[in-house]
Order: sequence, then C-alpha cells, then structure tokens
Amino acid sequence: MALLLGDIAPDFEADTTIGRINFYKWLGSSWGVLFSHPKDYTPVCTTELGETAKLKHEFEKRGVKIIGLSVDSVQDHQGWKSDIEQTQGTKVDFPMIADPDMKVANLYGMIHPNASDRFTVRSVFVIDPNKKVRLTLSYPASAGRNFQEILRTIDSLQLTDKYKVATPVNWKEGEDVIIVPSVSNEEAKKLFPSGWKEVKPYLRIVRQPRG
Ligand code: BEZ
Repeated sequence: MALLLGDIAPDFEADTTIGRINFYKWLGSSWGVLFSHPKDYTPVCTTELGETAKLKHEFEKRGVKIIGLSVDSVQDHQGWKSDIEQTQGTKVDFPMIADPDMKVANLYGMIHPNASDRFTVRSVFVIDPNKKVRLTLSYPASAGRNFQEILRTIDSLQLTDKYKVATPVNWKEGEDVIIVPSVSNEEAKKLFPSGWKEVKPYLRIVRQPRG
C-alpha cells in the first residue's frame, strides 16, 4: 500500500552513516525529509547528494532534518561520501540510511517493481512534527530532483499551518498568497486586518504574512 498524504509516516530502526537510529527519536519534534536514491556511486545521485548537502542550512532554517536512503551498505555510503565531497565541493553532513534488505524502502513504497525491483526510485517524503506525510514525490532514476522545489513546498506547507493561507501557481517566498476557502470573511477580517483583494468570493489575495 502506498503512503498517502495525511498518513502517519511509519517508524523504523535502521543502520545509517551516523550509526543505528530510531527514525522517530532521530526526528524528535522537527519536520523531516526522507529521500531515496537508486544507487551509490552513480552520476545523478552524486549531484543530488551534493546539492542537498549544500542546502542543509536552508532545511535547518525551516526546522527540517534531512536523511537519505538507498539499498547500499553503510560502507558504500561512507566511501561514496568522499567522492561527493571531492566532485561536488561539499561535505555530506546528514545521515544516509543503509537499506540492503529493502525494509524501509518497502515500508515507504520506494520500490516500484515495474520500474525496478532491485533499486528504489527517487522518492521524497516531507513529514511534519506530528509525523504526518505532507508531500510525496516519485521521480524516475534518470531525472535528478529539484531540491529548490522541495524547499518551496515546505515554505508553503509551513505558511498554511501558521496563517491559514494557500500559495498560488509558481508562488515564490515573499509573493502574495491566497486566503484558504475554509476561512470566512468574518474570520479573515481578524486574521488579515490590512485587508485583501477579492478577485472572486473564492479567490481572495493577501500579502504574505510574516513573523
Ligand atoms: C544515477 O544516479 O545517475 C542513476 C542511477 C540509476 C539509474 C540511472 C541513473
């Protein structure tokens, strides 16, 4: 069964590059990004891991911990990390799960048998502090993901949780947002005292709240 948005992310224990972890304990009260890559020592994965390492501070700013996974061993992960450091000019200082028996991969539906029954696809799970799955992505092995888009979606989710706003197509941090439909105009007056632009009763545009 695939994990769906709103489901509780399953807990697990696994060996990683920082030792054996319990996933929930490692997450604590943070948001989390759990992402898989098909194979160590492969070109696309090398660029992805380098980019994620470079963006670690951006995830941290948002209270998000990141953790990678593939079906390779801890020893392979450790060796490959040196290659990433050398070729991508960055240190990989977030944990990588070794999942050679595919226990976590199967738990999270990262194996898509008709794509490959030996390797994980490029999955992403964004998990909130209540351990709810808030975003899932499945990319093919040949297409590197856009980690700016993952950050952008986390910004959107965190805004929605805090201010009852949604984000329009192609929204970027700092641009106008939309009052969620479940907020009445009465409530909106209290939440957005500076007002909003009503394009349609269901499309109410407001400046991005801050603070
Ligand atoms: C890669 O990371 O380059 C890759 C991995 C598996 C299949 C194709 C490409």
